[in-house]
Amino acid sequence: MEKVLLTGGAGFIGSHTLVELLARGYEVAVVDNLCNSCEEAMRRVREISERDFAFYKADIRDRAAMDRIFTENKFDWVIHFAGLKAVGESCKKPLEYYDNNIGGTIVLLETMRAHGVKNIVFSSSATVYGTPEKLPLTEDCRTGGTTNPYGTTKYYLEGILTDLAKAEGDWNVVLLRYFNPVGAHASGRIGEDPKGIPNNLMPYVAQVASGKLKKINVFGNDYPTKDGTGVRDYIHVVDLALGHVAAIEKCREKGVHVYNLGTGVGYSVLDMIHAFEKACGKKLPYEICPRRDGDIAACYANSDKAAKELGWRARFGIEEMCRDQWNWQSKNPNGYNE
Ligand code: NAD
Ligand code: UD1
Repeated sequence: MEKVLLTGGAGFIGSHTLVELLARGYEVAVVDNLCNSCEEAMRRVREISERDFAFYKADIRDRAAMDRIFTENKFDWVIHFAGLKAVGESCKKPLEYYDNNIGGTIVLLETMRAHGVKNIVFSSSATVYGTPEKLPLTEDCRTGGTTNPYGTTKYYLEGILTDLAKAEGDWNVVLLRYFNPVGAHASGRIGEDPKGIPNNLMPYVAQVASGKLKKINVFGNDYPTKDGTGVRDYIHVVDLALGHVAAIEKCREKGVHVYNLGTGVGYSVLDMIHAFEKACGKKLPYEICPRRDGDIAACYANSDKAAKELGWRARFGIEEMCRDQWNWQSKNPNGYNE
């Protein structure tokens, strides 16, 4: 069976992908510096999957550590999740974001090359489309025009990976553009564990439902959308995880492969709040607030390319997303800190 290194595998999307890879018999190893995650997530993945794997607590910018990891293991693939992802923070700390996300990826790619590992799946984002040229977004839509350093690191990294594959013909690069990942593993043992007050809608909604936060702030109701609130393509994190499995199974040709991973359905902020109310069985207080800087009105994917070429489609809908997010939140009100 092939062996896969997950950088950032202790994080939200990485831990869910780990579970799906282990379930399919892949050999895996994780490297994570735990700057936005904790080892408890790894313990729980072992418990869910009843399998063991190597965990390296290391920073991907640490060349010596990376070299050691690649010397100890013969990897076929790297799935590269490691990165900083908070939009607001990236505006305050651009150098840290460029150093971590871009500097880290370059050390990773150099280590891969030195060890003859040339297959990589990269966590990109719908954010690379900037203000959408058209909706739904297809992979050939214009990219760029990102409005914050976080988004710009994703845009630049897509460019760096594409240049590399162009210059050296033996690389196989898969760029997965995630839309809005939500939900959690059905077991309720792993999920998203944001530090402090969540920036993203669904973890915030979940914490209002559990009583940790008082009310949801709805950022604007004057967008040109069906109810005036922002529309996004929310995707269950397990569907997203399965998209990575499909990518390593189906992308066997050298070159660059780009896929949107979304459901193709856009829901408004109010749709999400009402769906969550059903899942948790209570009314959730919310207030209409001013728009948040940098937000766009609507963003959703056309994921037909992934369906056609990878045989992948999101299977879970808004009900399962809210059910599993609530299951995780209610069983782990303080995330991994029991
Ligand atoms: P996350 O923060 O939960 O996971 C990222 C992991 O990377 C964390 O465990 C963190 O400790 C680790 N990490 C960060 N810098 C590192 C470094 N220098 N060395 C080693 N480990 C490092 O985030 P996530 O939601 O699981 O996102 C995974 C990837 O997907 C990120 O690259 C993110 O930008 C991208 N992405 C996320 C979303 C989203 O909404 N969650 C959307 C689009 C793209
Ligand atoms: C955000 C990031 C984006 C990143 C994505 C996935 C910004 C500007 N963009 O996207 O780069 O790739 O997360 O992690 O941060 N909302 C509220 N109240 C809240 C929170 C959000 O009304 O408390 C609204 C937003 O205005 C938006 C929707 O909910 O319309 C979704 O917001 P969020 O979950 O933060 O994701 P994005 O803004 O799509």
